[in-house]
Formats: sequence, structure tokens, C-alpha cells
Amino acid sequence: MSVTRRDFLKAGTAAALAASGPRASGQVKPVALHMGAFDQRLDPASPVRTRVWGFNAALPGPVLRYRKGERARIVVANQLPQETTVHWHGVRVPNAMDGVPHVTQHPIAPGARFEYALSFPDSGTFWYHPHQNSFEQVPRGLYGALIVEEEKPIEVDRDELWVLSDMKLAPDGQQVEDFGRILEVATDGRIGNQILLNGTAAGSGRATAVRSGERLRLRLINAACARGFRLAFAGHRPLVIAYDGQGTTPHPAPTAGGLVLGPGMRADLVIDCMQRPGESFAVSDVDRGTNVIARLAYSQERPLRGLPSEAPVALAPNQLPEPDLRSATRHEIVFQGGLRGAPLIGLIDGKPTTIQELMQKHALAWTMNRTAQHEHALMHEPFLRLKRGEHVVLRMVNETGYWHPMHLHGHFFRVVALGDKPTLRRDWRDTAIMAPRGSLDIAFVADNPGVWMFHCHILDHAVGGMMGTIAVE
Ligand code: C2O
Ligand code: CU
Repeated sequence: MSVTRRDFLKAGTAAALAASGPRASGQVKPVALHMGAFDQRLDPASPVRTRVWGFNAALPGPVLRYRKGERARIVVANQLPQETTVHWHGVRVPNAMDGVPHVTQHPIAPGARFEYALSFPDSGTFWYHPHQNSFEQVPRGLYGALIVEEEKPIEVDRDELWVLSDMKLAPDGQQVEDFGRILEVATDGRIGNQILLNGTAAGSGRATAVRSGERLRLRLINAACARGFRLAFAGHRPLVIAYDGQGTTPHPAPTAGGLVLGPGMRADLVIDCMQRPGESFAVSDVDRGTNVIARLAYSQERPLRGLPSEAPVALAPNQLPEPDLRSATRHEIVFQGGLRGAPLIGLIDGKPTTIQELMQKHALAWTMNRTAQHEHALMHEPFLRLKRGEHVVLRMVNETGYWHPMHLHGHFFRVVALGDKPTLRRDWRDTAIMAPRGSLDIAFVADNPGVWMFHCHILDHAVGGMMGTIAVE
């Protein structure tokens, strides 16, 4: 096991020392997050209330907003019938605050509390969600946005947030509780039959009111446990200004195939609403057929301006350590498994194993570097040990027939190559998609000490073996 009681005690001492400093965390007012079950009307046109799990009886949970550099204390109370933890996806936290059960902390037992002391080195669009039984807890409704404002925000008329997800609903409107089925673990993951936008059934006539001439900043978060989105905006030409919270050179969102948002991923867009008053335009997900998920509905008000605003939209960069590709050490991780993959997928207890055996005997479906991670994957040896400050290029080789949004905790990385092609912008990401039978090179400086999760954010894949740790020591 990678975390001992002594480590926790040490972490506790460190926290106590930090608290005695001039900007003591004791001066920060705590925010309370209660995790529990409640009933929620998903479709405003229907009388049905669906039993969901959520933070502070809200779906999604409350939007947590902080300023860059600010400190926070967040007291999580577990009122769920099972253990949990909370992870602050994308926030470069000290390891002890990362919210990973058995790796960075003990699980929070039902009825117990845990206080997270955070600070926010980066501005951007982040989110929070449980990291225990996440393949069940997240799709039941436990997720929320965490927004860290820039020191000098860009000028827009409105800041809009869309948290996208889905749910699998039975005809009576209640959730189907079939989490973690091996056939879904070994394929696309558990895809719901109802897309949700900010907790409301998408396509239920929902419209976002806009005014002609106005400039929107639209923050998108994919909080679904397995569903990817590809968004297409009729009548508009959004500019992407950030991925996963980190600024990028503003560029038009791809029109062919839509803007890709795998589970866990975020994008910030700037949209100039230059159509005429009274008109309405669909925003569609074109990933699985075409589903209208929202409409930009123009009010009758007279246009705010006749030409798009000229205010600059590029975000000031956060202070991320720049990897030096020439001196970087190179590592490789090979992913295998899944029902549509090669039959032989590595070793278990030293013996070659087939995908069928892995599924039947171990309820797993994926291997990393040809080793299956048993149930208690988290207690296994890290598959990579990096020196603190090491510059790293990590090549991920996807030998499976599936897409995988891979997420690294505690760090941001640049995506430097897709297959053998260097990428155009080397965007910073905390989650990057590997195409089926494709490879992806990422580069980063391992500057945050601790044991960090590296896993697929299709949460059924993670529980099925696509989850391991990288130690920075
Ligand atoms: Cu958003 Cu390890 O998770
Ligand atoms: Cu995956």
C-alpha cells in the first residue's frame, strides 16, 4: 500500500505548519459540501422526480468560484450509504488534498467528514467529483463546477456555464442502477439515455436566451461517466480560448465533426451572437447521431452592437513549468484490452491472459503495460517513478479499438504529438484523448511530489483496469 498511517500524520503536521503561517487557512471561511441522495425533477415539463445523489442537494452541485491564488477550506460531509472522497479535477493541489482513496487519504466513511485545504495556482474551468466508486457515484449525480477567475478576466457580456452529463433512466423516470456491468466496462462504458445540461434534460425545449450583438463566454464541462460529446453550433462560429482551463491561442472550434469533449474534459469558448433578434439556433451533440442539446434563442431586444466586440479574448497564461523536449526522459505506456481488441492482453500473476479470462475471473477488461491492475489497483506499485523536477515525454500507445480520455492528476501536460505528427499548438491539458489504435505523446515537468493517479476518465474503463499511479519523488 502506498500510503501509510505515518504519511497521513506527516501530511497532517505539514497542514498544521501551513496553518500557523501568516495567511493561515484558519482565516478562510469554510465551505460545506454535503453529499447525499435527494429527488430532482430532470424534465421541467414532467411531474416525475428522480432519485439522484448530489452535492448540497443540487444537480450539478454548487458552482465553487475562487480567484487565482486564493485559499479555500472545503468541508465534505458524507451522507451517502457508502465511502467516498472528493477530487478537484485539474487543480494542482498538494498530494494530500487530491481526494484519492487509499492513495492520498483514507476514504470518508458514511456519516464522517473531511476537510480539504486548497489553494488555486491556476485560473480556469475545473470541476469536482468523488474518486471512490466513481463509476457509480458520478453518474448518480455527484459533480460540480469549480471556476477560478483570472486576475484580469477577459471582457465579455456574460459568463455562461454548461455542465454536460447523462443518466440512464427507466420508463418510470428513475435511474437504472446497473453500474459497473462487465459488458459496458469492456466496451464504451455505461452511456445514459438522457443527456443532461446543468442537470436538466437536454432537448426538453430548453433555450439559452441571448441578445443580438452580445459576446458570451461559454464554459463547457463534460461530467458524464462515459459519454463523449461533439458539439456543433448552428449559425455561430465559436472561438476556443481554453482547454481544461488553460488558455490556448484563440482559434475557431472545429466545424467538421464538432468540438470534441471526452469525459472529464473542458473547453472555454467565446461566442459572438451576431444573428438577428427573434431568431433561434441549435447547439447539437453530433457524437451519436444528432441530438439538439440546447438552443441559442435571440431576444427581441435591439442589438447590443452591430459588429462583434473587438476586445481581446486571449487569456493570460498560467505559470506552468515548461517541459524541455530535448532533455526530457522518454517513457512509454501500452494500453490493451476491451472486447474489440486483440485476444491476448498481457499477464496476470505472470501468466499470459486472454480478454475473456480477464473479464470472467477478474471482472477487468484493460491492461496498462501488459499488466492487469487488480481490484486494489491503487495499492499497486506505481508504473512510473519520476524524479522531482524531471522533464518527461510520455508516449501512450493505444492498442485497443476504443477512445480513451486519459487524465493525469497534479500536473498539466502539453500534448506534443498525435501518432507521429507533432501537434500544431501543443495545448496544455489535464485530460487528453487517445484515438483507437493511435498514440499520443505528452510532455510535462514532474514538479509536484506525491503519488498521482493516471487513468482513463471513462469511469467504467478506470474500474476495469485503466487506472494506475505515477510517483514523483
Ligand atoms: Cu476527474 Cu482521477 O479524475
Ligand atoms: Cu478508456
